[in-house]
Amino acid sequence: MCGIIGYVGFLDAKKTLVDGLQTLEYRGYDSAGISFFTDGGIQTIKTIGKVSVLRELVHTQANDTISTCGIGHTRWATHGGVSNTNSHPHTAGKVTLIHNGIIENYQELRKELEAQGKTPVSQTDSEIAAMVIDDCYSGNPEEAIRLATTKLVGAYGFCIMFEDIPETIYAIRSGSPLVAAHTTNGSIIASDMVALVSHTNHYFVLKEKHIAKMTNDEILVKDEYGDIYSPAIHHISWDVGAAKKGGYEHFMMKEIHEQPDALRNTILPRCVNGMPDFSTDQISDDIFQNIDRVIITACGSAMHAGLIGRNMIERLARIPVSVDIASEFRYQNPIVDDRTLLITISQSGETADTLAALKLAKSKGAKTLSVVNVKGSSVARESDYVLYTHAGPEISVASTKAYTVQLSVMYLIAFRLAYVSKQISEEETKSYMENLTNVASKVEEVLSYDSQIENIAKRLAKAGNIFFIGRGLDHALSCEGSLKLKEISYIHSEAYAAGELKHGTISLITDSVPVIALATQPDVYSKVISNVQEVRSRGAKVILITDINAAVDASLCDHQIVLPETSPLFTPFVSAVVLQYLAYYVSVEKGLNVDQPRNLAKSVTVE
Ligand code: M6R
Repeated sequence: MCGIIGYVGFLDAKKTLVDGLQTLEYRGYDSAGISFFTDGGIQTIKTIGKVSVLRELVHTQANDTISTCGIGHTRWATHGGVSNTNSHPHTAGKVTLIHNGIIENYQELRKELEAQGKTPVSQTDSEIAAMVIDDCYSGNPEEAIRLATTKLVGAYGFCIMFEDIPETIYAIRSGSPLVAAHTTNGSIIASDMVALVSHTNHYFVLKEKHIAKMTNDEILVKDEYGDIYSPAIHHISWDVGAAKKGGYEHFMMKEIHEQPDALRNTILPRCVNGMPDFSTDQISDDIFQNIDRVIITACGSAMHAGLIGRNMIERLARIPVSVDIASEFRYQNPIVDDRTLLITISQSGETADTLAALKLAKSKGAKTLSVVNVKGSSVARESDYVLYTHAGPEISVASTKAYTVQLSVMYLIAFRLAYVSKQISEEETKSYMENLTNVASKVEEVLSYDSQIENIAKRLAKAGNIFFIGRGLDHALSCEGSLKLKEISYIHSEAYAAGELKHGTISLITDSVPVIALATQPDVYSKVISNVQEVRSRGAKVILITDINAAVDASLCDHQIVLPETSPLFTPFVSAVVLQYLAYYVSVEKGLNVDQPRNLAKSVTVE
């Protein structure tokens, strides 16, 4: 959460920063601001609202100012409301900084500063951090940063400018991500590669508590002992076009359409001679041996991918699997030992709770495997083994392609695990793999359902409450459909196991509460249809999502979405697209901001 960027070099810093912030806006969009060196010292321009508002302000307030060094921030508010004063950058004495993260002990630090007669102007923890660094500063910036960060408890990614050290930016992080690159145009640093990709296709990840000193000539990186070293350079495998809308009205729609390619890129390199194969990921079958249980932990959509993963692993490999919300797992003294395989799933690889859950399980001796989209991210670096999804950058806050590729990797894990533990034969494994390699073309087919779903969404947009019901894989998928709808349409919805509704919740069903029923699984199909009848007889309007072999008599539902013929275990890939379309078109119908829903940010790097 919060997008941060710093630039020093030969280009116009104001434009470089504002352009960079535009690409980072999905990380937070409550307010935005930049600070930059001018002949007369550091100038700051900040405002509540989006980067477009900031751009306009910069144009009117700093049009003629020449600057080649500055820092910028787009905020997702944590401490202190959404106001100009609470916007970043913050200045205290000689220090101007931007911050991504949370300083947990800021109240104590604030009291100490106030006792010295130093009063902050904002309510933020970030201004307190600036004050602490300034308090420690007596001419040596690195010493001040080192000393100040020993006093800060919590997560931070800082870019810092000192008034008396022009054309220089210092950066340090703990918990929050920072990636940087030196190019022929100077040095650039940001919380996310998307801000770097128009400048370079190489970057390095600033390690925790290491300090980067950036000038137009170079980036000097020092470890915690003050020793200079050359960080490992990574290559960005996608180009600048991948982080743009490419003709679509919204990133979400673009990303929905990118799913077939993302699935192929993720699945095909791991299909060798028709078998699931992780050798190019440097993962041998050893990780699947000597384990008694699997724990999957993640947040949001990634956790929902875990629910489907559990179903597949238990069904095929017959190993007990639990799925834990990462923010719960980490505080429950979980039962984990060296016979546990802990799988974390994360698009960003920076979700604070997921990262903490992973570290906890690792400390208890678990083997750790992560399913991650962003290369070199914290979760990937902390894990013993990584299976990267190849979705490319996902910009819309609502996860779409990242979710379906996570599903595909969970299927690959289930197949390999089941095969290695001799629960399924080579022939069966190959047959499952054939179906998996075909899902991309099934998803392509279902992408053409847009206008049918748009029509249904127009009716749903008027609802105040919506239920999603299903059993088994369909219930797991309902959880994702419901989250997607809530997230971008602001309609309250709940996902319920279809058979559980009658144990209380059915009292909420009326003729103004639509029910979206998923019935794609033959083993429980007739049960779900009975549940559909139960809600219909209470007046609910029913949208039934089913497959071609199970299409029903029109009287049973108000709308029927018939999926292309797909082997039942693989319908989640196609149903997911239908549910993504539904959420998207409801949001569009309501005139909402599809890509940047209120109160949210893409990457949740705070607890
Ligand atoms: O980056 P992660 O996959 O770890 O993010 C986890 C959740 O924050 C994320 O999936 C969130 O639920 C999505 N915005 C839902 O669309």
